[in-house]
Amino acid sequence: METKILSTSEYDLSLAGEIIRDGGLVAFPTETVYGLGANALDETAVKKIYAAKGRPSDNPLIVHIAEKEDMIPLVKEVTPAAKAVMDAFFPGPLTIILKKSDKIPSAVSGGLDTVAVRMPRNETARALIKAAGVPVAAPSANTSGRPSPTKAKHVIDDMTGKIDAVIDGGACRFGVESTVVSLAGDIPVILRPGAVTKEMLSGVLGKVELASAVLEEMGENETAPSPGMKYKHYAPKAKIIILDADKERYEKFVNMQKNAFALCFEGDSVEIPKITFGFEGDDLSQANALFDALRRLDEAGAKKAYARIPQKSGVGMAVYNRLIRAAAFRIIDLKKPFTIGVTGKTGAGKGYICERLHSLGYKIIDCDYYAKRLTKKNSPILSVLQEEFGEDIMENGELRRRFLADRVFVSKEKTRRLNEIMHPAVLKLCMQQADFPCVLDAPQLFESGADRLCSVVLSITAPDALCAERIMRRDGINEKQAEARLAAQHSTEFFIKNSDYTVINDGRNIDTQLAAALEECL
Ligand code: TXA
Ligand code: MG
Repeated sequence: METKILSTSEYDLSLAGEIIRDGGLVAFPTETVYGLGANALDETAVKKIYAAKGRPSDNPLIVHIAEKEDMIPLVKEVTPAAKAVMDAFFPGPLTIILKKSDKIPSAVSGGLDTVAVRMPRNETARALIKAAGVPVAAPSANTSGRPSPTKAKHVIDDMTGKIDAVIDGGACRFGVESTVVSLAGDIPVILRPGAVTKEMLSGVLGKVELASAVLEEMGENETAPSPGMKYKHYAPKAKIIILDADKERYEKFVNMQKNAFALCFEGDSVEIPKITFGFEGDDLSQANALFDALRRLDEAGAKKAYARIPQKSGVGMAVYNRLIRAAAFRIIDLKKPFTIGVTGKTGAGKGYICERLHSLGYKIIDCDYYAKRLTKKNSPILSVLQEEFGEDIMENGELRRRFLADRVFVSKEKTRRLNEIMHPAVLKLCMQQADFPCVLDAPQLFESGADRLCSVVLSITAPDALCAERIMRRDGINEKQAEARLAAQHSTEFFIKNSDYTVINDGRNIDTQLAAALEECL
């Protein structure tokens, strides 16, 4: 099929209207994103939209109208809440969901008993709907799963040969899709955030809820209040990772990376290839640039990109909502004190992993070292330990470490008490040393709760026999002592379950595994 490129002239718009009336597909600009329109009352035409986009048939479409009164035949009832919202925000970047009338074919509503309706503000969009003389069903004019189109070029890239025409109306003003609010239940619920913000809707409606799937990943067995929520969205080919970090940490982190792009704000100083989406703290500029930036990442051949995090308020909520989906919910909290927590079985090779990370630019904070420092001569904690475990754990002002260990580790309760005393004090010292980016080398990472203070947790384990052999050699202990120590450790399964990545030292190459860990988790 030949796809005509039309202008916004009166002649072209009337031609486009005719194509829609005749059952064809026309992509057109709106103030949010480009839509792919068909006659909403013509089931056969509507089905062509799903085919052109490759869209799952249970994901309903928004019906676009040119005048407020065009709403009446499409819904069961224009409720008072709907009327108030329409008076406040129509025409504009808002879609409302109400119980549908029998006029709406089930292909439009995806089999639901509700319909989504929107009256765009964009003049070209409204002129087209008027020229068509019918309500226009239109999803965003992208291939399903790709970023929504904010320029005619994006539509042409995705839809050439699949639709009858594209009206080139320049770049879209907002750049993110409309806010979708359901007024079909008792309490208004925002199903998708957009340029009409929660605060703005609350001003008219009072209590407004936010569907949980807006900011968080849906659970496996949850049903989506909006079918669109459950599908992969806005996904460029690159793996996107959002870094929850301020400008300084973001810049420092990405400048350590190779083979990655920065998806950052204007003015960020990054040394790797970058693509920007607006200015820090300016949600409208971010909304405007985001989808184009995602598409440009693909064009640049990016395999991996680290994104700055938008604020979650105002229109920023819409930006965050789209970006977190583009990132498949991958987000790393770099605000935590330690960047990587490294733990694992004693003798498995933790030291080697830390050495490698040190050479990559991470500061290493060794818990054992600080535990020793904490218990050196004259430290105040020694008297706490004496009170708990007996005067004789000290000799000439020095802690008898072996003696204390032999006394404590035979009893679960005593071990717990020792940890209760030592862990917070050691962690406090380690926190004072924390510097971005750093590694916390902690044999008792989980026991001390320090895993929660690390952006990413890496473990290393090995078969017990191998660990035993190594610690016997390293610490000069006998087989029995080694076995006892290993028996007190977590299992390999535990490490795998509780870590972002577990390196297994059983003859497989550790460097390769570490590289894979960093590639996957950071
Ligand atoms: O800004 C926009 O809204 C753009 C322009 C073209 O108007 N359109 C748009 O449509 O973004 P689309 O199809 O890409 O997104 C519509 C969203 C989908 O997530 C869909 O699941 C949801 O609205 N939706 C539509 N009808 C619904 C209904 N009856 N109940 C719940 N969700 C619905
Ligand atoms: Mg869409």
